[in-house]
Amino acid sequence: MNQDEMKRAAAEAAIEYVDTGMIVGIGTGSTANHFIDLLAGIKGKVDATVASSEASAERLRGHGIRVLDLNEAGELSLYVDGADESNKYLHLIKGGGGALTREKIVAAASKKFVCIADESKLVDILGDFPLPVEVIPMARSYVAREILKRTGGTPVLREGFTTDNGNVILDIRDLQIMEPVKLENELNSIVGVVTNGLFAARPADVLILGTPEGAKTILP
Ligand code: A5P
Repeated sequence: MNQDEMKRAAAEAAIEYVDTGMIVGIGTGSTANHFIDLLAGIKGKVDATVASSEASAERLRGHGIRVLDLNEAGELSLYVDGADESNKYLHLIKGGGGALTREKIVAAASKKFVCIADESKLVDILGDFPLPVEVIPMARSYVAREILKRTGGTPVLREGFTTDNGNVILDIRDLQIMEPVKLENELNSIVGVVTNGLFAARPADVLILGTPEGAKTILP
């Protein structure tokens, strides 16, 4: 089984969490895209979806699946999304695709967060994958200096990239994240930061990993 097939196996297992009449929060990225494509096969079952990016919204609409604004939807029963890294406590690094802020908002508004990924995403210590931070453009240099001072990591501007919210991304390299909740809060306390890609204060509730032997479910 290749990496893409493992992502699809995880997405297939996540379909089991979809119940009749639900409004489902939908993540962003190649694994979430598998979930969207599979959801199309049972679209009569869901009432609607809320998307965490313009790209996912477009893909959902392309399948004829209704997409609501989060403000119209209220609390969501389920959020399904990928990740760039997860530890065994289901603390995540997300935002490789730059959709971290909307992803974090939809995750916060959802009762259950099911994370889907191929097995390579499970790590002992978070931080090999550069940690994305969404920043208001005029604060970019100030925030970069603060990140260096407060974390010791190296912030690198994601060149030529603007988020769906009109902001920039600083990717922090050279981190070994021993206390994810503390770092998440510390970064969010820097003025000019919109949010960061650590999902630790609100981790995933279920992690489904695609492996060569099929989908494996991990609980914190
Ligand atoms: C998007 O901003 C990210 O948070 C994605 O969830 C993450 O990058 C996972 O992407 P893949 O499913 O493409 O690996």
